[in-house]
Amino acid sequence: MDKLEAAKAHFAALVEEQLARVERMKNDTGAVDYSKLDQIIIGCCGGDGIGPAITAEAERVLRAVLKDDVASGKIVFKQIDGLTIENRIAANKAIPDDVLAELKACDIILKGPTTTPSKGDGPNIESANVAMRRELDLFANVRPVAVPEEGIDWTFFRENTEGEYALGSKGIALDADMSFDFKVTTTQGTERIARQAFEFARKNGKKRVAIITKANILKKTDGKFLELCYKVAKEYPEIEVDDWFVDIISANLINEKVRKNFQVFVLPNLYGDIITDEAAQIQGGVGTAGSANVGNKYAMFEAIHGSAPRMVETGREQYANPASMIKAAELLLRHIGYKDEADRVIAALKIANDTIKMTGRNDGATGAEFANCVIENL
Ligand code: IPM
Ligand code: MG
Repeated sequence: MDKLEAAKAHFAALVEEQLARVERMKNDTGAVDYSKLDQIIIGCCGGDGIGPAITAEAERVLRAVLKDDVASGKIVFKQIDGLTIENRIAANKAIPDDVLAELKACDIILKGPTTTPSKGDGPNIESANVAMRRELDLFANVRPVAVPEEGIDWTFFRENTEGEYALGSKGIALDADMSFDFKVTTTQGTERIARQAFEFARKNGKKRVAIITKANILKKTDGKFLELCYKVAKEYPEIEVDDWFVDIISANLINEKVRKNFQVFVLPNLYGDIITDEAAQIQGGVGTAGSANVGNKYAMFEAIHGSAPRMVETGREQYANPASMIKAAELLLRHIGYKDEADRVIAALKIANDTIKMTGRNDGATGAEFANCVIENL
């Protein structure tokens, strides 16, 4: 087959796959109500590098704050050990089938960071994160960032299943001279993330939502995203909405005069990835942020930083700071309706942050000591 025909066939298969995804979204029956479940299974998946160490500390905090419901059997913890880079390479899959089945048997997942091989770095395996978001249809990536003393209280609603990520590992290398990647935006995918952002704003007394795109350049995909967000906004007349291009918003976030006016952001996948790292840095670093990956049937909570393999290689994993995973645990609690417990975790986490000195080395505290301080102050 000549390369043009091969490219057409490749593209046609991608379009068919995406059309099937649209049908699945159309048939989605809506969000699970955790208050109606007799039992909630929390899957704890350590991941790679420092992941198992910091996830175990966050799990201890969860077990402590939920101890009555753990004792009654309402809350059950399940350990999922298989999501490691070694297993992924052996199975040549982003998530080995048995691990995916274990994940799907849980109601909610606490996940440590997983290592993503870059191109050229061994087999070309897709990111476990991206695969999990797709397989469990975790369409909303919710990332809160707050710096109270500066009046910053932002919540980012990053679309989590589409954009550049939908087909990120399925581009076409046409020949030695030319490669294509693809970006996909759907009506269903956009409306559901927009609705999450506006519902959050309404329920939490937020007055403003900012839509972030590059619709001046990416007219089809971002243009659609922008238009549909404005359409959804009409259902929320009490909320003020405006839109910004991603370049200027990245400047505005470091502009102390204007940044505190922002409250809720809704943005496509890749911009959300980039802007939330910038925002987390303003809060004190990517290690301080947690992230909720929410779908209608499943939800997964994680840190936004990586697996820090160098810390493990130098025998320092016990000094890794579990604050980001404890923050993820707090978001998990809030999601399943344990608001008071979530508030207690966040208050105790603040005390631990203020009193325990973590350096990532043996001149600072260990992750276990940090978690002990959180547990003592719950
Ligand atoms: C994130 C991460 C992931 C992403 C990586 C690990 C695939 O950067 O959660 O922000 O790009 O989404
Ligand atoms: Mg990122």
